[in-house]
Amino acid sequence: MRHVLSLFDLTAEEIGQVLDVSVKLKADLTAGKRESLLDNHVIGLLFEKPSLRTRVSFETLTAQLGGNSLMLGSDVGWGSREPLCDFMPILTSYLDMLVIRAKSHALVEESLQFTQCPVINGLTDVSHPCQALADILTVQEIAGGLNDVSIAYIGDANNVTYSLAIICGRLGIPLNIGAPAGYQFESSFIEQLNADAGKELIRQTDDAMAAAENVSFVYTDVWTSMGQEAESKQRLKDLAAYQVNEKLMSVAAADAKFLHCLPARRGEEVTSGVIDSPASAIIQQANNRLHAQKGLVVWLKNQNEPNSQ
Ligand code: CP
Ligand code: NVA
Repeated sequence: MRHVLSLFDLTAEEIGQVLDVSVKLKADLTAGKRESLLDNHVIGLLFEKPSLRTRVSFETLTAQLGGNSLMLGSDVGWGSREPLCDFMPILTSYLDMLVIRAKSHALVEESLQFTQCPVINGLTDVSHPCQALADILTVQEIAGGLNDVSIAYIGDANNVTYSLAIICGRLGIPLNIGAPAGYQFESSFIEQLNADAGKELIRQTDDAMAAAENVSFVYTDVWTSMGQEAESKQRLKDLAAYQVNEKLMSVAAADAKFLHCLPARRGEEVTSGVIDSPASAIIQQANNRLHAQKGLVVWLKNQNEPNSQ
């Protein structure tokens, strides 16, 4: 059974297939066509953390495709009320697919051995693959393809950056990560991505301006992710020089666009002047969560039920 916990679970070709389904279903929706590709299917959303985009886009896409979704909060007791070996097979025996947003990536990995249906990662402390698929769909739409694009990610190298780095490595997109020491990835992760790509695509530097030079997209995320609130004061200090502001945008390409997975904290990782400017693509990017995940769900369903196509 195929699952998507990380973009390492997909080859470059498979990511291309997911994006192709997303593009097609987005065009269908725009044309007023809603095919019942999830007719009477049920998708569970097991969420341990708050969410606007991920939750609502999964609920909406399921409804648009003729299925049903179930929002499951802490009351169901994942990892607390009963052992995983009881919880997971029972929950997943009711469902056709399960999306998990979790505090602990390790708990999701541990749960996988007991699942009876495909699982999608809806964000963990380690990765956010659905976000990266929507990010690249957005880049592709804006740039008219992926051939001549480059991205700078400025700030904390976190779960969002992790998935962005994998997808860039897989699809051959140069990515410069500008982050201070202590907020960068282990060099072994970057080396692995570049070795898989066969070239030095993913670079990491503590010089934010150098990272942003001439890139076509500048991306950032919050300095304090969900679950890191106790470190917030220290993070504000450590990352202060990594704000995406007008000066930083001025060294990117003249027509560079700004990306952010959201929610954003204006005045911290990004200025209002940048996020509210015409260069900002955040609404399109957030809307693409719906289309990218629709592509992923339909693709994953077909992978797991080859005769259902
Ligand atoms: N970007 C993102 O995943 O947003 P939510 O936390 O609102 O789902
Ligand atoms: N890095 C952020 C992303 C939110 C979508 C977090 O984990 O809180």
